[in-house]
Amino acid sequence: KLASLRGVEAGTLQLAVVTTAKYFIPHLIGDYYEKHANLDIRFKVGNRQQIIDRTERDEDDFYVFSHPPENPDLELVEFLPNRLLAIAPANHPLADQKNIPLTEFARSPFLRREEGSGTRHAIERFLAREKATLNVRMTIESNEAIKHAVMSGLGVSILSEHTLSFGGSAGLAVLDVQRLPIITHWYLARRKSRPLSPAAQGFLEYARNLGNLPLDPDFPKA
Ligand code: PGA
Repeated sequence: KLASLRGVEAGTLQLAVVTTAKYFIPHLIGDYYEKHANLDIRFKVGNRQQIIDRTERDEDDFYVFSHPPENPDLELVEFLPNRLLAIAPANHPLADQKNIPLTEFARSPFLRREEGSGTRHAIERFLAREKATLNVRMTIESNEAIKHAVMSGLGVSILSEHTLSFGGSAGLAVLDVQRLPIITHWYLARRKSRPLSPAAQGFLEYARNLGNLPLDPDFPKA
């Protein structure tokens, strides 16, 4: 154990991640922490806009986005795919259908994330590309609350597959909608001007070597 601590001194590692990343970053930290148990890790969660604001105030060693801001002061490491899937309650009439036309899905009442959300940003870019509009019923500021609203039959939504992983898909069906999923990637971002502590350097190397490994063995089934 002691040998594995060599190279990364005790220190703090300050991370801020978008709400969708909170479903898998703790698992990555868990693996990293096993080897670096003397680290004091601080972990913040916010929506995309809140995390962008933190980058501007230089508050953390690392930020996790799937839609990083265009800011030349940030260094980005792409590290995992992120697919946004159409979800409905498990008993929804479209749940058993294959190849559902986007226009048909778009007629269902839709539950969307709040302004400032990266998930919403990705969906809006996708709709603009597809020249489609959704039948928005409600705006909800949390992936978890959206999942529960979908389960209760209030509508359908599009959320990151990570919100469904690690047992999080109960009561929900992933719909086979044409043109979906929306495929994006996760990025670890850091301000280039921020000095890289040994702890931060170690974490950066760890993230660079993660590649595309799925984190949850049941992941593709989610
Ligand atoms: P958010 O995160 O929807 O919680 O802002 C996702 C992202 O930035 O892609």
